[in-house]
Formats: sequence, structure tokens, C-alpha cells
Amino acid sequence: MILTTFLTLLQLITFLAATQRSSRLSAKHGSCYESYQDISVSALNYNIKLAPPKDQDALTDFVVRYTSDNSNITKETAELAIHGINADHTYWHFGGEDSKYSYVEAALKAGHAIMMYDRLGVGKSDKPDGIKEVQMPTEVEIAVKLIEHLQSKPRGLSFNGYIGIGHSYGSAQLTALASKHGNLLNGTILTGYSTSATSASHSYATWTSTIAAEPDPERFNGLPSTSTVSNNRMTVQQNFFTYPNYDPAVLDATTSGKQPATLGELLTILQPLPAGPTPYPQYSNPVLVVTGDKDYIFCAGDCYQQVDGVNIVAKTKEAFPNVPESSFSTYIPAGTGHAVNLHFSAPETYEEIQKWIASLS
Ligand SMILES: *[C@@H]1O[C@H](CO)[C@@H](O)[C@H](O)[C@H]1NC(C)=O
Ligand SMILES: *[C@@H]1O[C@H](CO)[C@@H](O)[C@H](O)[C@H]1NC(C)=O
Repeated sequence: MILTTFLTLLQLITFLAATQRSSRLSAKHGSCYESYQDISVSALNYNIKLAPPKDQDALTDFVVRYTSDNSNITKETAELAIHGINADHTYWHFGGEDSKYSYVEAALKAGHAIMMYDRLGVGKSDKPDGIKEVQMPTEVEIAVKLIEHLQSKPRGLSFNGYIGIGHSYGSAQLTALASKHGNLLNGTILTGYSTSATSASHSYATWTSTIAAEPDPERFNGLPSTSTVSNNRMTVQQNFFTYPNYDPAVLDATTSGKQPATLGELLTILQPLPAGPTPYPQYSNPVLVVTGDKDYIFCAGDCYQQVDGVNIVAKTKEAFPNVPESSFSTYIPAGTGHAVNLHFSAPETYEEIQKWIASLS
């Protein structure tokens, strides 16, 4: 369908960086652009691929549909995807356009636009001070700027629904965003997440925090000692995967592609805001929590453990006292560890997520 072609975008941001380039990223169900943005200025540039009309009839049809009542073009949903620790934006498009692990393809297939980016301190984004600057509050404000930009009808395109989807630390950022900025998003999807912090320190210990530049000087040359990575394939497996429900090649790629987390981030995960941790009464829009049944970081390996009569994932509801019961949902993919998108269950999980988004309108 044509609409997915020009409402698809991909954005990478850099922090206080002056360069801006564009390149193509391939997607099967739409077109994406990868761009570098300076977000220290108030104007965020926006790169959208508008498929060139193949002839005059196609152009006229575009104008007619764009200006029609109930135009599909103005009824689109935009998703903002925030990756977690160890990953960069490619977590959402893992394996590329032909991969069943690509969440981007699932979103495009549903007719949504999706914006993803490398978080501050990660991948192609800037790497300012890893203790004072790269922290939860800074990153939440970056996400807010990106949402506000999506809401500002860039190039005349308007979306009518804005959904945030996070993984792990990215989910924690969405909860901090909900707490500080209320209903900025129409819906919030928290993957690889729960409000149970009881196992977080065990998993941090087994994550074997390693100065990134030491084992991997080629990739992380020049990064300070505040940028850390999980040590090796085993420690990545332990925290992110559950055996044997993944392709070993996916674990290999997750290990070799690992990205650093700063000490500032690790110390602010559980204290997202000056106001302190949960609950988040300012937010009342729908929430979906999607956490693998064997999540080691957020469920200590068993999300069906009962806490106050409900499982750990359902217990997350307590953080959102003003989200009506009917607007709070959970999905617990079976045989799935923390890296929800990287297990064999991913296609089914994406189907559930898209069904949930469709149910909102
Ligand atoms: C919107 O998209 C649907 C599905 O492709 C199509 O049937 C419908 O005619 C479109 N509506 C408009 C106004 O273009
Ligand atoms: C999204 O939220 C905005 C602001 O609250 C609201 O105007 C809009 O109708 C919402 N869209 C959907 C699809 O709920």
C-alpha cells in the first residue's frame, strides 16, 4: 500500500553534533532514511521519504487522497521506538528487511510510521560526559523533543496517534516520560520491563560491567572508562536470552554488536526523576507491557511469580494508578528472555503488539 511508503521515517540523532547527512536504510514494507540531527537547536530536521509519484495520475491521486475527508494520510499512527542497553537503534530492525526479527517491518506492515534513534552515548550519537550528562533525565528530554517534532506536522504530514515503544531501559525512559510529561503519548508499550526491581542488582552483577574500550579498542576507541559493556557472549546470554529459544547466530550478533551504557545511565535507571520512582499518576492513556516469561533482569527469570496475587508483569499496573483497568494490558511471550525481539517468539509478539495498537482507535 502506498501510504506506508511515504510515512516511514527513520531518524538518528546526535547530541551537539554539527554534521548532517542522510543515507538509505532498507525496509521491505516502506522506505526509511537514516539521518544525523543536531538537537541542540530547537528545530529538528525531519527526513521523510516521499515516494516519487510514478506519473501524473499517481500525483493527482496523492493530492486527492491527502485532501479527502477521512484521508488515510492524516490518520496515521507514528511510533517512537527507544532501544535498551547493549543495543542501538538496529534492535528494532534486527537482521534487516527480510528478517522476522524486524519490528520496523511489523510496524510498516500495519501502516505506521516509526522513528527510531541511537540514544545519547550510543552508536552514531554523541558521547558527552558519561556520569554528568548521559543520564535518564537528559535522555527523557531528548525523547520529548522527538515526540514534539512528530506532533508538529512536519512537512504538512499529520499523525493522529503517537505511540511510544521501549525496550528495557528505553521502557524505563517511557515511564519517566509519562511521569514528567503526562499524556504526551496516546499509548505506551513497555517491552522487557516490569516495576519489579528486585532482580535488577543481581543482573547488574552478572552483566560483568567492563570498560568498553578495553576488550574492544577498535569499536570503542577513545571512549572514557564511564562507557561500559557486558563482558562476553555468556554474560549477554545470561541477561538477554533464554536457552534454547533463539538462534545462536542472533546471540553472536548481539554480542559482537554490543553498545556501551554509561555509569550515569546505570545509576539513574531506578531513579528516573527528581520526583522519585513509581507511581506515575500523571499518565492515564493506555499501557501495554510485553515481557518474556523468562526475563532475567525484570522478573528474576520467572514473570509468573505471584506478587500480591498477580504476576510480576501484571503488577506493573500499580505504577499507573490513573490508567483504567480496561486500558492496561499485558502480554507474556512464552520461552522468551529479556531481549523480546530476538527470540523465536518475535513474530507472534509483534502481531500481538500491532493488534493492541489497532484496538486503540
Ligand atoms: C484508506 O485505505 C484503505 C485501505 O488501503 C482503502 O480501502 C481506502 O479507500 C483508503 N481511504 C482513502 C480515503 O484513501
Ligand atoms: C492523541 O492525544 C492527543 C492529545 O491528547 C489527542 O488530541 C488525540 O485525539 C489523541 N489521538 C488518539 C488517536 O487518541
